[in-house]
Amino acid sequence: MSPFISVCACCWFFVAASASRDLTYRDSDILSLNTAQRTSEQPYRTGFHFQPTKNWMNDPNGLMYYKGYYHLFYQWNPYGAVWGTITWGHAVSTDMLQWHILDVALAPDQWYDINGCWTGSATFVAANRPVLIYTGWTNISSSVEHKIQVQAVAVPHDSEDPLLQKWIKVNDNPILVAPIGIDPTEFRDPTTAWIGADGKWRMVVGSKRKEDGVALLYRSSDFLHWHKAEDPLHSVVDTGMWECPDFYPVSIGGQNGLDTSVNGPDVIHVLKASLANDKHDYYVVGTYNSDYDTFTPADSSHNVGIGLRYDYGKFYASKTFYDSAKGRRILFGWVNESSSAKNDIVKGWSSLQGFPRKIWLNGETKSSILQWPIQEIETLRRRSDSLSGIFLEANSVTRVTGVEGAQVSIE
Ligand code: FRU
Repeated sequence: MSPFISVCACCWFFVAASASRDLTYRDSDILSLNTAQRTSEQPYRTGFHFQPTKNWMNDPNGLMYYKGYYHLFYQWNPYGAVWGTITWGHAVSTDMLQWHILDVALAPDQWYDINGCWTGSATFVAANRPVLIYTGWTNISSSVEHKIQVQAVAVPHDSEDPLLQKWIKVNDNPILVAPIGIDPTEFRDPTTAWIGADGKWRMVVGSKRKEDGVALLYRSSDFLHWHKAEDPLHSVVDTGMWECPDFYPVSIGGQNGLDTSVNGPDVIHVLKASLANDKHDYYVVGTYNSDYDTFTPADSSHNVGIGLRYDYGKFYASKTFYDSAKGRRILFGWVNESSSAKNDIVKGWSSLQGFPRKIWLNGETKSSILQWPIQEIETLRRRSDSLSGIFLEANSVTRVTGVEGAQVSIE
C-alpha cells in the first residue's frame, strides 16, 4: 500500500524530520527513525521503518503492548546479512516511531531450538502475564532432513520489568511436536492464542498436508499441554505450506480493534496465511464459531491463498496485535526487499519492517479489510505545502518542483 499517493488536483506535501531520542536505557546504538543513518554509502537505510543497525532480519514476532511500551521482536541473524542462526531480536518503543533495541530475547541455546528460534507470537494468559510461543528448529540429527520443527514456550524472567528484557524457556519444552501425518519440517509459526466458548485456549500452527495449506488447531487448559483438534481451523487445496498464520476478530461496525479472544454477533474474523510458494500474505474474512471451532469464509472464491492479499508489494510473514493502549489492531509485516544476497552482504543488512498500520473491516464489503499507517506518523510532519492545479496522470511520472525535504509524503 502506498498510503500517501493519491491522484488529486491539489497536493499536500508533508516534510518530516526525525524526532529526538527521549529514552535512555542501555541501548546498543539503535534508532530506526534516524535519517542520519542514511549516508552516501548507505543510501537505502530508511527514515521511518524499523531496521536493526546491521545484519539480516525477517518476520515480526511476539508483538505486544505492555506497561507503556510496544514490543517488537523479529527474526534476526546476529552474525551476518543473510538468513541463518536465527534469534529473536527485541526492540521497544512508546510510539512505534522511535525504536530502541535491547538484547536478543531468545537465542538458540537448547537442543530443541539449537538451529534457530523461529517465528512465534505473544499471548496474555492474564493481564500482566505475557507468554511467548515460538518454533524451535532442533538438532535431533545433523542431516538437514532430520532437523525438525517443534513449538516452545518462554515466559518473562521479571514481569515487573516493562521492557521484558529477559525471557526464560520453560522446562516443559518442547510443548508440541508435529502430529502424525504432518511433515515435521513443515510445522511452524504458532499464532497468538485465544479463549473459546469452553474457556480453553486455542492456537493455530501453520503447516501443509500434501500440497494443501493448513492451519492446524490446538487446544489447551494450561498453555503447556496442547491437544490437536481433529479438524484444522481451515485448509485450502493446492496453496502449499502456510507460514505465519494469523487469526483475529474485527468489529463489524467501526474501526475499533478487538482483543484476540473477543467473539459475538458484532464480530467477524480474519484468517491470514503467508504462502511459502509465492511469498505473499493472503487473507479471508469469515465467521468463526467457537463452540465448534469452525471458520467459514464470507466468500470462498476469495479464500486464503487464492484471493485477497494485504499488500501487492513486498510484504510477508505479517502479524497483527491488539493495542490495548489505543483500542486498535495493528499490522506489522516484513518488507523482504528485492536486493540480492550479494548486495545485502555489501550493504551489511537486509530488510525492514513495514511501517505499522491500523487494520479494520471494510464496512462496505464486509469481506475485506482496510489499513492505514498509524496516526503517530503525522507527528513526524514538520511542514506542509499545498500545490494546486497539478494533474497527476495515471502510470506516468510527474515532476513536481518547489518542494524539498529528506522525507516527503503526498496526499
Ligand atoms: C517466514 C519463515 C517462518 C519461519 C521463519 C524462519 O519468513 O520462513 O515460517 O518460522 O521465517 O526465520
